[in-house]
Amino acid sequence: MIKKCLFPAAGYGTRFLPATKSMPKEMLPVVDTPLIQYGVEEALEAGLTEIAVVTGRGKRSLEDHFDISYELEHEISNTGKEKSLSGIRHLIEACSFSYTRQVEMKGLGHAILCGRPLIGDEAFAVVLADDLCLNVDGDGVLAQMVKLYEQFRCSIVAIQEVPLEDVSRYGVIAGEAIRDDIYRVERMVEKPRPDEAPSNLAIIGRYILTPDIFALIEQTVPGKNGEIQITDALLKQAKQGCVLAYKFKGQRFDCGSAEGYVEATNFCFENIYKAKTAPQSRRLEAV
Ligand code: G1P
Repeated sequence: MIKKCLFPAAGYGTRFLPATKSMPKEMLPVVDTPLIQYGVEEALEAGLTEIAVVTGRGKRSLEDHFDISYELEHEISNTGKEKSLSGIRHLIEACSFSYTRQVEMKGLGHAILCGRPLIGDEAFAVVLADDLCLNVDGDGVLAQMVKLYEQFRCSIVAIQEVPLEDVSRYGVIAGEAIRDDIYRVERMVEKPRPDEAPSNLAIIGRYILTPDIFALIEQTVPGKNGEIQITDALLKQAKQGCVLAYKFKGQRFDCGSAEGYVEATNFCFENIYKAKTAPQSRRLEAV
Protein backbone atom coordinates (compact mmCIF):
# COMPACT_ATOMS: atom_id res chain seq x y z
CA MET A 1 0.00 0.00 0.00
CA ILE A 2 1.31 3.47 -0.87
CA LYS A 3 1.01 5.91 2.03
CA LYS A 4 3.45 8.69 1.19
CA CYS A 5 3.21 11.57 -1.21
CA LEU A 6 6.15 13.86 -1.97
CA PHE A 7 5.69 17.48 -3.01
CA PRO A 8 8.81 19.04 -4.54
CA ALA A 9 8.19 22.68 -3.67
CA ALA A 10 11.56 24.39 -3.54
CA GLY A 11 11.46 26.07 -6.98
CA TYR A 12 11.57 29.85 -7.34
CA GLY A 13 8.44 30.14 -9.47
CA THR A 14 10.15 32.58 -11.82
CA ARG A 15 7.37 32.25 -14.41
CA PHE A 16 5.04 33.99 -11.97
CA LEU A 17 7.15 36.94 -10.87
CA PRO A 18 6.50 39.38 -9.32
CA ALA A 19 3.71 37.46 -7.49
CA THR A 20 6.19 34.82 -6.34
CA LYS A 21 8.91 37.21 -5.20
CA SER A 22 8.17 36.63 -1.52
CA MET A 23 5.36 34.07 -1.74
CA PRO A 24 5.81 30.41 -2.71
CA LYS A 25 4.22 29.62 -6.10
CA GLU A 26 2.53 26.65 -4.40
CA MET A 27 0.55 29.14 -2.30
CA LEU A 28 -0.98 30.95 -5.30
CA PRO A 29 -4.73 30.70 -4.83
CA VAL A 30 -7.00 29.19 -7.45
CA VAL A 31 -10.20 30.98 -6.39
CA ASP A 32 -9.95 30.55 -2.58
CA THR A 33 -7.60 27.59 -2.20
CA PRO A 34 -3.82 27.49 -2.62
CA LEU A 35 -2.45 25.19 -5.32
CA ILE A 36 -0.69 22.89 -2.86
CA GLN A 37 -3.93 22.29 -0.97
CA TYR A 38 -5.56 20.93 -4.12
CA GLY A 39 -2.59 18.56 -4.40
CA VAL A 40 -2.87 17.39 -0.79
CA GLU A 41 -6.63 16.89 -1.22
CA GLU A 42 -5.92 14.72 -4.27
CA ALA A 43 -3.33 12.72 -2.27
CA LEU A 44 -5.70 12.16 0.64
CA GLU A 45 -8.45 11.08 -1.73
CA ALA A 46 -6.01 8.44 -3.03
CA GLY A 47 -5.44 7.21 0.54
CA LEU A 48 -2.01 8.87 0.90
CA THR A 49 -1.86 10.40 4.36
CA GLU A 50 1.87 10.96 4.88
CA ILE A 51 2.71 14.17 3.12
CA ALA A 52 6.40 14.95 2.59
CA VAL A 53 7.35 18.38 1.30
CA VAL A 54 10.71 19.42 -0.12
CA THR A 55 10.87 23.14 0.54
CA GLY A 56 13.48 25.85 0.18
CA ARG A 57 14.25 29.33 1.41
CA GLY A 58 11.22 31.62 1.73
CA LYS A 59 8.73 28.75 1.86
CA ARG A 60 7.72 28.91 5.51
CA SER A 61 4.12 29.81 4.68
CA LEU A 62 3.67 26.28 3.28
CA GLU A 63 4.30 24.85 6.74
CA ASP A 64 2.06 27.43 8.39
CA HIS A 65 -0.75 26.61 5.98
CA PHE A 66 -0.85 22.99 7.14
CA ASP A 67 -0.96 23.97 10.79
CA ILE A 68 -3.56 25.42 13.14
CA SER A 69 -3.69 29.19 13.44
CA TYR A 70 -5.01 29.58 16.98
CA GLU A 71 -5.40 33.34 16.80
CA LEU A 72 -7.37 33.19 13.56
CA GLU A 73 -9.52 30.27 14.74
CA HIS A 74 -10.32 32.16 17.93
CA GLU A 75 -11.24 35.33 16.01
CA ILE A 76 -13.68 33.58 13.70
CA SER A 77 -15.11 31.01 16.11
CA ASN A 78 -18.91 31.08 16.18
CA THR A 79 -19.10 33.23 13.06
CA GLY A 80 -20.23 32.07 9.62
CA LYS A 81 -16.60 32.23 8.51
CA GLU A 82 -15.57 29.12 10.45
CA LYS A 83 -16.68 26.83 7.67
CA SER A 84 -14.15 28.32 5.24
CA LEU A 85 -11.45 26.54 7.25
CA SER A 86 -13.19 23.17 7.46
CA GLY A 87 -11.43 21.79 4.33
CA ILE A 88 -7.93 22.62 5.50
CA ARG A 89 -8.74 21.50 9.06
CA HIS A 90 -9.82 18.13 7.71
CA LEU A 91 -6.49 17.76 5.87
CA ILE A 92 -4.52 18.68 8.99
CA GLU A 93 -6.38 16.05 11.00
CA ALA A 94 -6.22 13.30 8.38
CA CYS A 95 -2.60 13.73 7.23
CA SER A 96 0.85 14.06 8.74
CA PHE A 97 3.26 16.60 7.27
CA SER A 98 7.02 16.46 7.22
CA TYR A 99 9.48 18.81 5.58
CA THR A 100 13.01 18.87 4.35
CA ARG A 101 14.92 21.49 2.43
CA GLN A 102 16.53 21.43 -0.96
CA VAL A 103 19.45 23.75 -0.35
CA GLU A 104 20.54 24.11 -3.98
CA MET A 105 18.25 24.05 -7.02
CA LYS A 106 19.67 21.24 -9.11
CA GLY A 107 16.55 19.97 -10.86
CA LEU A 108 13.46 17.87 -10.20
CA GLY A 109 15.43 14.62 -9.90
CA HIS A 110 17.63 16.21 -7.25
CA ALA A 111 14.58 17.62 -5.42
CA ILE A 112 13.06 14.12 -5.30
CA LEU A 113 16.35 12.70 -4.02
CA CYS A 114 16.32 15.33 -1.24
CA GLY A 115 13.02 13.77 -0.11
CA ARG A 116 14.60 10.34 0.40
CA PRO A 117 14.99 10.65 4.21
CA LEU A 118 11.24 11.37 4.45
CA ILE A 119 10.27 8.48 2.16
CA GLY A 120 12.63 5.63 3.03
CA ASP A 121 12.41 2.31 1.25
CA GLU A 122 8.85 2.26 -0.04
CA ALA A 123 6.93 3.21 -3.17
CA PHE A 124 5.58 6.75 -3.09
CA ALA A 125 3.70 9.31 -5.15
CA VAL A 126 5.01 12.66 -6.38
CA VAL A 127 2.82 15.68 -7.05
CA LEU A 128 3.99 18.84 -8.80
CA ALA A 129 1.50 21.28 -7.35
CA ASP A 130 1.53 23.69 -10.29
CA ASP A 131 -0.01 20.96 -12.44
CA LEU A 132 -3.56 21.12 -11.09
CA CYS A 133 -5.36 17.87 -11.93
CA LEU A 134 -9.09 17.51 -11.41
CA ASN A 135 -11.57 14.83 -12.27
CA VAL A 136 -14.86 16.15 -10.99
CA ASP A 137 -16.90 13.10 -12.07
CA GLY A 138 -14.73 10.29 -10.69
CA ASP A 139 -11.49 9.25 -9.03
CA GLY A 140 -8.74 11.86 -8.86
CA VAL A 141 -5.62 11.29 -10.94
CA LEU A 142 -3.51 9.97 -8.03
CA ALA A 143 -6.28 7.59 -6.98
CA GLN A 144 -6.35 6.25 -10.56
CA MET A 145 -2.57 5.79 -10.48
CA VAL A 146 -2.52 4.12 -7.05
CA LYS A 147 -5.03 1.56 -8.37
CA LEU A 148 -2.78 0.87 -11.34
CA TYR A 149 0.24 0.54 -9.06
CA GLU A 150 -1.59 -2.10 -7.04
CA GLN A 151 -1.97 -4.07 -10.26
CA PHE A 152 1.46 -3.52 -11.89
CA ARG A 153 3.87 -2.74 -8.97
CA CYS A 154 6.20 -0.49 -10.94
CA SER A 155 6.83 3.22 -11.45
CA ILE A 156 4.08 5.05 -13.32
CA VAL A 157 4.04 8.51 -14.91
CA ALA A 158 0.90 10.41 -15.84
CA ILE A 159 0.77 11.50 -19.48
CA GLN A 160 -1.38 13.61 -21.75
CA GLU A 161 -1.34 14.28 -25.46
CA VAL A 162 -0.17 17.81 -26.20
CA PRO A 163 0.24 19.72 -29.48
CA LEU A 164 3.63 18.87 -31.02
CA GLU A 165 4.76 22.50 -30.85
CA ASP A 166 4.43 22.36 -27.03
CA VAL A 167 6.53 19.22 -26.38
CA SER A 168 9.63 21.24 -25.46
CA ARG A 169 7.93 22.19 -22.17
CA TYR A 170 7.67 18.57 -21.01
CA GLY A 171 9.26 15.20 -20.54
CA VAL A 172 8.02 13.13 -23.50
CA ILE A 173 7.62 9.35 -23.66
CA ALA A 174 7.22 6.70 -26.31
CA GLY A 175 6.53 3.02 -25.84
CA GLU A 176 4.38 0.05 -26.56
CA ALA A 177 0.66 0.44 -25.84
CA ILE A 178 -0.40 -2.38 -23.53
CA ARG A 179 -3.92 -1.01 -23.09
CA ASP A 180 -5.58 1.95 -24.82
CA ASP A 181 -4.58 4.18 -21.88
CA ILE A 182 -1.30 2.54 -20.75
CA TYR A 183 2.13 2.45 -22.44
CA ARG A 184 5.19 0.52 -21.41
CA VAL A 185 7.89 3.19 -21.65
CA GLU A 186 10.74 2.55 -24.09
CA ARG A 187 11.95 6.10 -24.72
CA MET A 188 11.80 9.19 -22.62
CA VAL A 189 13.29 12.62 -23.38
CA GLU A 190 13.25 15.75 -21.23
CA LYS A 191 12.00 18.84 -23.06
CA PRO A 192 12.85 17.79 -26.63
CA ARG A 193 12.53 20.04 -29.66
CA PRO A 194 9.45 19.06 -31.70
CA ASP A 195 11.65 17.49 -34.39
CA GLU A 196 13.45 15.35 -31.77
CA ALA A 197 10.37 14.30 -29.79
CA PRO A 198 9.57 10.58 -29.80
CA SER A 199 5.82 11.38 -29.64
CA ASN A 200 3.44 14.03 -28.34
CA LEU A 201 2.76 12.15 -25.08
CA ALA A 202 3.85 14.58 -22.38
CA ILE A 203 4.56 13.76 -18.74
CA ILE A 204 2.29 15.61 -16.34
CA GLY A 205 3.28 16.29 -12.72
CA ARG A 206 2.02 13.04 -11.16
CA TYR A 207 4.31 10.09 -10.58
CA ILE A 208 4.33 6.86 -8.63
CA LEU A 209 7.92 5.83 -8.00
CA THR A 210 9.41 2.65 -6.61
CA PRO A 211 12.22 3.34 -4.14
CA ASP A 212 15.02 2.01 -6.37
CA ILE A 213 14.61 5.33 -8.19
CA PHE A 214 16.75 7.01 -5.51
CA ALA A 215 19.88 5.02 -6.40
CA LEU A 216 19.18 5.68 -10.09
CA ILE A 217 18.90 9.44 -9.46
CA GLU A 218 22.22 9.31 -7.61
CA GLN A 219 23.80 7.85 -10.75
CA THR A 220 22.14 10.40 -13.04
CA VAL A 221 24.37 13.12 -14.42
CA PRO A 222 23.00 16.61 -15.10
CA GLY A 223 20.95 16.60 -18.31
CA LYS A 224 18.67 19.19 -19.92
CA ASN A 225 19.45 22.70 -18.66
CA GLY A 226 22.29 21.30 -16.52
CA GLU A 227 19.75 19.84 -14.07
CA ILE A 228 19.40 16.34 -12.63
CA GLN A 229 16.24 15.19 -14.39
CA ILE A 230 13.79 12.62 -13.01
CA THR A 231 13.03 11.80 -16.65
CA ASP A 232 16.61 10.53 -17.17
CA ALA A 233 16.50 8.38 -14.01
CA LEU A 234 13.13 6.97 -15.06
CA LEU A 235 14.48 6.01 -18.48
CA LYS A 236 17.17 3.94 -16.74
CA GLN A 237 14.48 2.31 -14.62
CA ALA A 238 12.41 1.60 -17.74
CA LYS A 239 15.41 -0.08 -19.41
CA GLN A 240 16.22 -2.21 -16.36
CA GLY A 241 12.67 -3.18 -15.54
CA CYS A 242 9.39 -1.50 -16.24
CA VAL A 243 7.93 2.00 -16.16
CA LEU A 244 4.37 2.65 -17.27
CA ALA A 245 2.86 5.82 -18.68
CA TYR A 246 -0.83 6.33 -17.99
CA LYS A 247 -3.25 8.56 -19.89
CA PHE A 248 -5.33 9.70 -16.96
CA LYS A 249 -9.00 10.61 -16.88
CA GLY A 250 -9.68 14.20 -15.95
CA GLN A 251 -8.41 17.65 -16.64
CA ARG A 252 -5.04 19.20 -16.08
CA PHE A 253 -4.24 22.88 -15.83
CA ASP A 254 -0.69 24.18 -16.14
CA CYS A 255 -0.84 26.68 -13.31
CA GLY A 256 2.79 27.59 -13.94
CA SER A 257 1.57 29.57 -16.97
CA ALA A 258 -0.77 32.57 -16.93
CA GLU A 259 -3.14 30.92 -19.45
CA GLY A 260 -3.41 27.68 -17.48
CA TYR A 261 -3.82 29.56 -14.23
CA VAL A 262 -6.71 31.64 -15.58
CA GLU A 263 -8.36 28.52 -17.08
CA ALA A 264 -8.00 26.71 -13.75
CA THR A 265 -9.51 29.66 -11.91
CA ASN A 266 -12.54 29.78 -14.21
CA PHE A 267 -13.00 26.02 -14.05
CA CYS A 268 -12.74 25.83 -10.26
CA PHE A 269 -15.05 28.81 -9.84
CA GLU A 270 -17.75 27.15 -11.95
CA ASN A 271 -17.29 23.55 -10.82
CA ILE A 272 -16.07 23.67 -7.23
CA TYR A 273 -16.45 27.09 -5.65
CA LYS A 274 -20.05 27.76 -6.72
CA ALA A 275 -21.18 24.33 -5.48
CA LYS A 276 -19.34 24.82 -2.20
CA THR A 277 -20.73 28.26 -1.47
CA ALA A 278 -24.30 27.81 -2.77
CA PRO A 279 -26.94 28.15 -0.06
CA GLN A 280 -28.12 24.74 1.24
CA SER A 281 -31.46 25.00 -0.62
CA ARG A 282 -29.75 25.57 -3.98
CA ARG A 283 -27.35 22.70 -3.30
CA LEU A 284 -30.29 20.36 -2.71
CA GLU A 285 -31.96 21.51 -5.92
CA ALA A 286 -28.76 20.66 -7.80
CA VAL A 287 -28.87 17.07 -6.47
C1 G1P B 1 8.84 18.88 -14.95
C2 G1P B 1 9.45 17.62 -15.53
C3 G1P B 1 8.87 17.33 -16.91
C4 G1P B 1 7.35 17.25 -16.82
C5 G1P B 1 6.79 18.54 -16.18
C6 G1P B 1 5.30 18.42 -15.91
O1 G1P B 1 9.26 19.99 -15.70
O2 G1P B 1 10.86 17.79 -15.60
O3 G1P B 1 9.37 16.11 -17.40
O4 G1P B 1 6.81 17.07 -18.10
O5 G1P B 1 7.42 18.81 -14.93
O6 G1P B 1 4.77 19.64 -15.47
P1 G1P B 1 9.11 21.52 -15.16
O7 G1P B 1 7.73 21.96 -15.54
O8 G1P B 1 9.32 21.47 -13.68
O9 G1P B 1 10.18 22.28 -15.88
